Amino acid sequence: MVELINKVALITGASGGLGNFVTEAFLATGATVVGVARSIQPSAFAHPKFVAMPADLSKGEATKQMVDAAIQRFEKLDVLVHVTGGFAGGELIDNTDDVTWDKMMNLNLRSAFNICRAVLPHMRKAKRGRVIAIGARSAVEPKAYLSAYCASKAALVSLIRTAALEGKEDGITANVLLPGTMDTPANRADSPSADFSKWVPPAKVASLALWLASEEASQVSGALIPVYGAGL
Ligand SMILES: NC(=O)c1ccc[n+]([C@@H]2O[C@H](COP(=O)([O-])OP(=O)(O)OC[C@H]3O[C@@H](n4cnc5c(N)ncnc54)[C@H](OP(=O)(O)O)[C@@H]3O)[C@@H](O)[C@H]2O)c1
Repeated sequence: MVELINKVALITGASGGLGNFVTEAFLATGATVVGVARSIQPSAFAHPKFVAMPADLSKGEATKQMVDAAIQRFEKLDVLVHVTGGFAGGELIDNTDDVTWDKMMNLNLRSAFNICRAVLPHMRKAKRGRVIAIGARSAVEPKAYLSAYCASKAALVSLIRTAALEGKEDGITANVLLPGTMDTPANRADSPSADFSKWVPPAKVASLALWLASEEASQVSGALIPVYGAGL
């Protein structure tokens, strides 16, 4: 069992389908969790070590202000789990509109850029840190009709691998988990007739995130970890 007592983890997208599991998993280790989403409330997790910090991560200045407030309160951030992201598509590249493109780039890439840009200076100063980002299988196996989604997740992978290289001398690791379709309430609602047993349980993705934050994973950086489950 991973113990992260006295550690502070900032988890973006904490209120979402996967973020819920990641937040519960980190709280169970004894870590303090700063949960971030645009509309997150303190009541989202009934735990004394949960703190809600609402922010729109597509906005650089708002992201920096939120991270600065977290640092002011806790004096450090040991772990960043960047879960925020989303999905859109269904059209050929030819018919993909600017709205879809910008939405995917903002949600999946710019949010990661903004949160890394805000958190990394503090980790660099502390000479330690763990960055764990949630990509997607489509980041390395693009699919037709999902150009904006796949391109944004592929760029996220590149950003996080760069963070791994730049963190090398400062005790910072950075890794990306690549889930296949997960068994979330939203996916069940969207595809009620699918075989849910083929989908990845979000709790398994949360466990891997936890492991990457643990002492055991101190030598793992720049990794892309497939989590494709029974649907492989
Ligand atoms: N679901 C899948 O099958 C699947 C498969 C592969 C990869 N993934 C990836 O896994 C991650 C989690 O997926 P999920 O299904 O759990 O997503 P989700 O349920 O839609 O949750 C998204 C979370 O991000 C927050 N968020 C959205 N926009 C934001 C913004 N601008 N600033 C700050 N927070 C924002 C949402 O809260 P607010 O709306 O309150 O901001 C929510 O907490 C994503 O990166 C997704 O791409 C998912």
